[in-house]
Amino acid sequence: MYGRYVRESVSEYSELALPNDANGLGNLLGGKIMHLVDLTGAIAAMKHSRNPVVTASVDHMDFIHPVRLGQLVRLRGSVNRVFRTSMEVGVKVWVEDLVRGEEKHVSSAFLTFVAVNPAGGRVEVPPVIPETEDEKRRYEEAGKRREYRLQTRRR
Ligand SMILES: CC(C)(COP(=O)(O)OP(=O)(O)OC[C@H]1O[C@@H](n2cnc3c(N)ncnc32)[C@H](O)[C@@H]1OP(=O)(O)O)[C@@H](O)C(=O)NCCC(=O)NCCS
Repeated sequence: MYGRYVRESVSEYSELALPNDANGLGNLLGGKIMHLVDLTGAIAAMKHSRNPVVTASVDHMDFIHPVRLGQLVRLRGSVNRVFRTSMEVGVKVWVEDLVRGEEKHVSSAFLTFVAVNPAGGRVEVPPVIPETEDEKRRYEEAGKRREYRLQTRRR
């Protein structure tokens, strides 16, 4: 099975923060950001595996900076490592103030997606090939995170 480079499946997504998705303070709901993180991660996982995927898990998420109405939420996702039928995708979220031209880090998350066929069976995923120093670091760290996840799952 041939591997694919990380850069081949990078996923980028952006959306303007609108009132329908805000709380009473005029900040974008955390749940909306989680939804966008799931979408961005799933797109990267599907581009890499060229299969439908389901979300198996989402690791811990912190919200470091609020997103105000009218600001742009920007997300970037990439496959950190493939195991057999599952893959870890990292997604980073920023907020961009389009008037001021400022950008801030909002959140980061690691998600695990499993590739499936139309009948719901698991599908083996081609390996991912890390090229840059950051990609190699994420690849190594993903292995440790998987061990922790599987231990937690067993418990
Ligand atoms: C995710 C799912 C496919 C796993 O099914 P399963 O019967 O537990 O399958 P397996 O034990 O064979 O696991 C399949 C792969 O998923 C991984 N996996 C399963 N649960 C996991 C978890 N909680 N976190 C990380 N990886 C997980 C396994 O390690 C395995 O990976 P590998 O093939 O790369 O080694 C199944 O639980 C499912 O369909 N869940 C619902 C998914 C869904 O609907 N998501 C969206 C709405 S929340």
